Amino acid sequence: MSVLEIIRDRRSVRRYNGDPVPEETLARVLEAARLAPSAKNIQPWKFVVVRDRATKIGLAKAAFGQSFLSEADIVVAACGLPERAYPRQGSYMNSWPIDLAIAFEHLILQAAEEGLGTCWIGAFDETAAKAVLGVPGEVRVMAMTPLGWPAESPAPRGRKPLSEIVSYDRYR
Ligand SMILES: Cc1cc2nc3c(=O)[nH]c(=O)nc-3n(C[C@H](O)[C@H](O)[C@H](O)COP(=O)(O)O)c2cc1C
Repeated sequence: MSVLEIIRDRRSVRRYNGDPVPEETLARVLEAARLAPSAKNIQPWKFVVVRDRATKIGLAKAAFGQSFLSEADIVVAACGLPERAYPRQGSYMNSWPIDLAIAFEHLILQAAEEGLGTCWIGAFDETAAKAVLGVPGEVRVMAMTPLGWPAESPAPRGRKPLSEIVSYDRYR
């Protein structure tokens, strides 16, 4: 499939069958994250791959009871390292959330290529998630995703038309 086809077909999946993800498939998904670009190529990230059932349930609780998180074979937590990241990127931001979001989307798109489901989880109590995973104080947890075999085929969600989000030569 082309990149655009993968992007078109990806969905947020919220039902999983729990079958195991083969190690070689997981390796390709993680490799896609590893290859992501980052400011100054610092790569200020760590990915925690969780297969332990009790830990997955703890993360689902930290995500305000989004129980589908623990139904997939794997949960991946995307962790950022602000103290190592490029401190100013463009107008004002430390680069870590930008770098990490790019890498996590790489991971998500490679998962889609493999036929695996994911769902970007941003609604969670970061302090609780850090406690579950043993993440040290200075490290941030930005997002999590279940990673597993889909048990549903969600319909596409609409998107704004290009005419609404693109302008040429000037901001309009
Ligand atoms: C930053 C961010 C946070 C999100 N947080 C959640 C979440 O906590 N729970 C959830 O079920 N979906 C979450 N989503 C998924 C969005 O709801 C989903 O991407 C959007 O509705 C479009 O649907 P699609 O991904 O199937 O195209 C999040 C997505 C993003 C990008």
